[in-house]
Amino acid sequence: MRYGYFDDERREYVITQPDTPLPWINYLGCQDYFGLISNTAGGYSFYRDARLRRITRYRYNNVPLDCGGRYIYVRDNDTGAFWSPSWQPTRSDLEAYVCRHGLGYTTIGSTYKGIEAQARYFVPLHENLEIWQFTLTNRRQGSADLSIFSAVEFCLWDAEDDATNFQRNFNTGEVEVEDGVIYHKTEYRERRRHFAFFGCSEELAGFDTQRDVFLGPYRGWDNPTAVERGRSFNSMAHGWAPVGSHHVKVTLKPTETRDIIFVLGYHENPEEKKFDPPDSQTINKQTVKPVIARYLDETNIDTAFEALCDYWDDLLGILQVETPDVHTNRMVNIWNAYQCMVTFNLSRSASFFESGIGRGIGFRDSNQDLLGSVHMVPRRGRERILDLGATQLETGGAYHQFQPLTGRGNDRIGTGFNDDPLWLILSVVAYLKETGDWAILDEPVVYENQPRTEQSLYEHLQRSLRYTLDRLGPHGLPLIGRADWNDCLNLNTFSDTSGESFQTTTTKDGMIAESVFIAGLFVLAAKELTAIAQWRGLEDEARSYLDAAAKMEAAVLDHAWDGAWFLRAYDDFGRKVGSQECEEGQIFIEPQGFCIMAGIGLQDGLAEKALLAVKERLATPHGIILHQPAYTRYYLHLGEISSYPPGYKENAGIFCQTNPWIMIAEAILGHGDQAHDYYTCINPSAREAISDVHGCEPYVHAQMIAGRAAPTHGEAKNSWLTGTAAWNYVAITQWILGIRPTYGGLQVAPVIPSDWPGFEATRVFRGVTYRISVERAGEGNAVSLTVDGQPIEGNIVPSPQGDQAEVVVEAILG
Ligand code: BGC
Ligand code: NOJ
Repeated sequence: MRYGYFDDERREYVITQPDTPLPWINYLGCQDYFGLISNTAGGYSFYRDARLRRITRYRYNNVPLDCGGRYIYVRDNDTGAFWSPSWQPTRSDLEAYVCRHGLGYTTIGSTYKGIEAQARYFVPLHENLEIWQFTLTNRRQGSADLSIFSAVEFCLWDAEDDATNFQRNFNTGEVEVEDGVIYHKTEYRERRRHFAFFGCSEELAGFDTQRDVFLGPYRGWDNPTAVERGRSFNSMAHGWAPVGSHHVKVTLKPTETRDIIFVLGYHENPEEKKFDPPDSQTINKQTVKPVIARYLDETNIDTAFEALCDYWDDLLGILQVETPDVHTNRMVNIWNAYQCMVTFNLSRSASFFESGIGRGIGFRDSNQDLLGSVHMVPRRGRERILDLGATQLETGGAYHQFQPLTGRGNDRIGTGFNDDPLWLILSVVAYLKETGDWAILDEPVVYENQPRTEQSLYEHLQRSLRYTLDRLGPHGLPLIGRADWNDCLNLNTFSDTSGESFQTTTTKDGMIAESVFIAGLFVLAAKELTAIAQWRGLEDEARSYLDAAAKMEAAVLDHAWDGAWFLRAYDDFGRKVGSQECEEGQIFIEPQGFCIMAGIGLQDGLAEKALLAVKERLATPHGIILHQPAYTRYYLHLGEISSYPPGYKENAGIFCQTNPWIMIAEAILGHGDQAHDYYTCINPSAREAISDVHGCEPYVHAQMIAGRAAPTHGEAKNSWLTGTAAWNYVAITQWILGIRPTYGGLQVAPVIPSDWPGFEATRVFRGVTYRISVERAGEGNAVSLTVDGQPIEGNIVPSPQGDQAEVVVEAILG
């Protein structure tokens, strides 16, 4: 069952039924000001940090679902009937409801009793505000006398404190209302220099700023008293819950249309210019007023909207493909790339499943997010890499997360996830291959944000590698620490106390449990660092990294091959995890993917065997599960992984991020059909027809799809903010379609399905546009390349000399 359809031409997903299985959301904003918005106008906004600088409130896991958002009510003043054109919160019986989620904007509209209404929400580039462009049209025979009410609920900035510290927060709320603009200024009197504003283009009939006056006692957003009675109260918030609501009266003749603009935003003043007059407590509005005025003018809004569309066209234009598969095209050209940018911007901080409170920027996460976004935003990728490097510790280890607003490592979660540092090598490599900007390696970067600890980024990378080598276990494999990629494989935790954090409780000294996953990641990273050293002419260093990789590879072959697949780990007793010897959890996906990506087992047939085992034991029609059999009870020595009921999350769910590792491994072995089959199983667009089963948005990947052992096999959760986005993008574009940046040029090495006659692609790489056509002439994956009509050796298109802007590449496959 579907709840809408893809409009590929306009790069939109169109939802035609408001009661989707879950709120299907979109993101507004791409730099500092962000919001998430659902298909029924639910969601919230924040400035840079969803925890520390939250602008509007949202109550997760509430009933009814997804309540709290950017609401507009329309009231028929003749009959008293009122409704929300976005369906929520009144949930009236609308006609022609349509939500269009586009790139950086969302439009929601409907018709009710002859009144057509639609709101377009977006954040203009480089501005810390959002625009709600609301259009009303009278489709009745006679004229319509209407009242419009806007509504947002302000958050008192720190979203965690806001939801818990009521003895203080019920007293601190403050607002100002001036010239029809509502200003939310809680704590501005003391240490904050920022405030929020909510303006409207029309003359107001009234306003409200105190929630419980606007709603009325014991009422919800579905029937506010002010709307019901058709008149605002002009309430001023003193403590309690500040809101912003404007009341506008509109009379429309038949067919007449009217636009009303609302602008909600965030503004900062310099410390010495907070108040006007300076000795008052009144916000100085000198610099904010022109901003508000600019965006209450329709012409400026149209220009801003066009600029936003151009921004996305430019980003997506960097890689466009035309293959025989609509789902591949749609994801590569539009949605997967878009999702990669959203993960780049927000890491794991704010989605329908991530509350924006618990997690800042994940070290491991953001390094991986870069893999799918660095070609679109290389300059921002560079900054991100340097920020990530600055949270590294002198040991080479890394803070697992840091807060975007402060850049400081998050002490609550701390360090000790032993895979973390290695991911930095992969992101830097991706950046270097994309840009050729070798100078980044010489950038001075501090440790742990401490001044005067600068060393070159290259030194940071060396320490990343050393961190693993300094922590080897009894089999010469890397010690796992708190966990590796699989946050829930906690082999040193042994927690028997409910409520204890699996990630931060450590009861073992950590000197025994080893991770084969980290071993694979290490080999891959060490080989990449070897190549970097070689390119820089550092032969001795190159040799030492290569030796380290070879030693680790030998340790894997000696101690981590289980006969038909790679082991997952050794536990704290030195016993195997992910082995035929185990009762449950006999085979895991992660080491199969990572060892093969690292080149282990390619020569001796082990890789082939491991992939066969994955297919036979782990593959399902909904994707590849993490391990099997699922753990049916809690194992003290395994940790959180066995805390989940079988089939969910890390306990044998289809953890989608790992699936592309297998796609890449299949592509490395030349299996184009299998690689693309796996790709299709979890491709959200290809799952659109089963939206009722899948549950999450059909236009973006989810973190997890319930596995075979779960009663709800096939049901997705945790959409949007997941490493699945970047890795799928890498798998399909770089390994299946085979268009891969390398230090020496753009590689074209497709491993595509056997029944594809070929495909076309346009890739902008280091400022040059490559027009690539691939044609299948026979079986297999051998490539013959012609560049601007001249045959070349190998499959790497060298960067053109001089100022040539376009290169034509023809590839014959087979
Ligand atoms: C989740 C993981 C997550 C971890 C850290 C666990 O409960 O299952 O997916 O990585 O928490 O937040
Ligand atoms: C989600 C986390 O964000 C990611 O870093 C981790 O690798 C996976 N969970 C698997 O546990």
